[in-house]
Amino acid sequence: MNPATRTAWDALTNNAARARSVHLRDLFAADGQRFAKLTATWNDWLLDYSKQRITTADMTLLLDLWHSADVAGWMGRMRGGDTINHTEGRAALHIALRHPAGKGPILHAGHDVMPAVHAELEKMRGFAAQIHGRHWRGATGEPITDIVNIGIGGSDLGPRMATQALAAFRHPEIRVHYVANLDSADLATTLATLQPRTTLFVVASKTFTTQETMQNATSARHWLVQALGEGAVARHFVAVSTNLAEVARFGIDPENAFAFWDWVGGRYSLWSAIGLPLVLAVGFDNFSSMLAGAHAMDEHFFSAPPAENLPALLALLEIWNTNILGAGNRALLPYSQSLGLLPRYLQQLEMESNGKPVDRQGKPLTCATAPILWGEPGTNGQHAFYQLIHQGGRLIPCEFIACKKPDFALPGHHEKLLANCFAQSEALMRGRTLDETAAELLAGGMAAEQVALLAPYRSFPGNQPSTTLLLPRLDPYNLGALLALYEHKVFVASVIWDINPFDQWGVEYGKQLASRLLPVILGTTSGEHLDSSTAGLVAACRKG
Ligand code: F6P
Repeated sequence: MNPATRTAWDALTNNAARARSVHLRDLFAADGQRFAKLTATWNDWLLDYSKQRITTADMTLLLDLWHSADVAGWMGRMRGGDTINHTEGRAALHIALRHPAGKGPILHAGHDVMPAVHAELEKMRGFAAQIHGRHWRGATGEPITDIVNIGIGGSDLGPRMATQALAAFRHPEIRVHYVANLDSADLATTLATLQPRTTLFVVASKTFTTQETMQNATSARHWLVQALGEGAVARHFVAVSTNLAEVARFGIDPENAFAFWDWVGGRYSLWSAIGLPLVLAVGFDNFSSMLAGAHAMDEHFFSAPPAENLPALLALLEIWNTNILGAGNRALLPYSQSLGLLPRYLQQLEMESNGKPVDRQGKPLTCATAPILWGEPGTNGQHAFYQLIHQGGRLIPCEFIACKKPDFALPGHHEKLLANCFAQSEALMRGRTLDETAAELLAGGMAAEQVALLAPYRSFPGNQPSTTLLLPRLDPYNLGALLALYEHKVFVASVIWDINPFDQWGVEYGKQLASRLLPVILGTTSGEHLDSSTAGLVAACRKG
């Protein structure tokens, strides 16, 4: 059902003008209990959304929206293995990938998927033990020291991001590299640092047909075969895919293939065998802890009332900022170097899932969906783009993530990092009026004439909404919970927008056109059918 036709949506829209004109500093001044009222906790996590431009009355309306969209019903459909990805005829059962053994079945088409899930996890555990124990040897008998994951999108971003996030937990003797881009610079610069004798490739692709991955895998295979001969492939290539027939066709021994299933979307696949490079990077026990953290967040999501449910709250705030305040973007600002790749990972999770034009009935949507997600870790971003957030005049809801404890115990760093994080959200909320700026400059000894000249440049409006998520520390368990939080947040928002978050048809058209253009670039087909711009670009390349 079109969200705009719901009564709660109407009531929220009626609040829009008031919400756009009110200033956050006035909301704080009016209510000393604001922080207590607009925060939520889970385990030892704290979600502070009191710096959002929202009131408790607005929250009540958003919760009405949750109920009228039947989010609880959709949660049941997800859990029950229904075909909620209706345009691809698939279930979306990524929660099964972190469901613990002995906690009951998860059914898909009448069958319990859990035995197959745990069998595959066992296979991953066994393989990691062989690599880490130096029992798995390359073709020349040497142990493996370097793993190269070849994959793109969901077959790259999750394990790549998590490997960086869990840098403090890394296995000391194994280096894990990630190659995704079709640009030969990615593979070539990675291979330049490696020895074929001690390198193992993980070719990760749900479909095993993705152009980028197949080209990189073919080039990597060539590099290996040139050095060690055809017979070396079996000891230096393993695969992760749902398409085991294609894996065999590529020449990878099916014994060395790790499976997952079509009910796992690419961007929800980190928890499956797609996590193999992460297992090799940090060990199976840490991977298991990450699954346990994700499962704990699943339990919270499925049981907590919406007003205390972290994924629900984040989704409702997204709806508020996007559809009521009219923000077209959201900045994700982790004050954690380890979470440096989180914005990129969430770009796929959020924008590929919820950047959709039609509702579940195929009707054009009349409201905006996923905002543009962007961001960088703090404090680096402060010295790059924060200027625009503070004074650029655009509405940019910000999401800060910070950890109470550092990942690496170098004295003197962490307190400063936290001070910067909280100072930014404070500054974005308060701003500084012209009078305040002038008073401060005068008090600092500046001449009145100079003050009059400079104060306008040095004041800023504030009222920039933000949320701060404070975690105890970044360990595998909390990382798992954090990623599951965002998965469920995306799902809740999709239910309210009435869209299917599990397909990605928009990506396909570009792939189709690239296949049609390749023969033109190669010169085997004429480009008569092309528009003048595309034809001109191709011609310019062919001229050299
Ligand atoms: O970008 C489109 C997409 O289909 C993603 O959804 C997916 O994660 C990625 O391509 C890679 O696909 P595969 O794992 O099949 O190679």
